[in-house]
Amino acid sequence: MALQVSQLPKNVGVQVYGFDPMNLSAADISQFQTLFNDNSVILIRNISLSPEKHLELTKALGEPGIHPVATGRLEGYPEILVPKPYGLAISEDPEEIVGRIPWHADLTFTTSPPRGALLRAVEIPAEGGQTGFIDTARVYSELDASLKQRIQSLQAVHRMVYGQRQLGFDVDKQQAAEVSKRFPDVTQPLVQTDPESGVVSLNISPLFLEYIVDMESGESRALLKELQTIATQEQYVYWHEWQQDDLVIWNNYRTLHCAAGHPQKFPRTMHRTTLESREPMGKLLAA
Ligand SMILES: [Fe+2]
Repeated sequence: MALQVSQLPKNVGVQVYGFDPMNLSAADISQFQTLFNDNSVILIRNISLSPEKHLELTKALGEPGIHPVATGRLEGYPEILVPKPYGLAISEDPEEIVGRIPWHADLTFTTSPPRGALLRAVEIPAEGGQTGFIDTARVYSELDASLKQRIQSLQAVHRMVYGQRQLGFDVDKQQAAEVSKRFPDVTQPLVQTDPESGVVSLNISPLFLEYIVDMESGESRALLKELQTIATQEQYVYWHEWQQDDLVIWNNYRTLHCAAGHPQKFPRTMHRTTLESREPMGKLLAA
């Protein structure tokens, strides 16, 4: 029987029902791949996955990658991240909010950002811990024609150090130089076309996108702020309230996500795999 789907709020993607990872037909896998290309987010609830099954499911969509800057990994499974919340134990206050991450697409400061990720809730906090999602293909499609034309051919620079500083890390000059040596500045089109699906999206990743190439800095900041303000309007933002054994899959080529954070007194454990890019970034076509 074909997988059943319903729309998620804000049309950010679909929830899939009747998904038995132990018993997927070739037709189910084909439908799953189509859903991944056609949506920003896929939600599957009550899916209890062993690490092996999590990896197997990842392989249905592509090649599991090794995240280059993971804060934690599952022992024996280098492809499975167990992210440690940013800011953990900075304060002894149990109410301190940790794990807050601003809007971004993953690893856009690398030459080959991942195609997507599969994130499963293993242990959810009693409060907070939501993840926000935005479909940047929808945002792009609804921009007014003059703004589309203005940004169509622009290129932008993404930097890891810029992101680290926004996350509150105190990165000195020497550390910045070391990070930049490992991850040199990357230039990407502001409007991109996914070479596999043909989907056009707004390629902003506010955590890492520092400036627009060949544009005066004040104008660049103003334009980026305008695009971020449009993209993060309430009509586009879906906040996912996690339940244990939820699996959320996002297509990183057309999705912004962010983490709300949670009080550090509540543990939050997630398992995540990352889908390798199938195309080097340079081959992503400017629309
Ligand atoms: Fe992320």
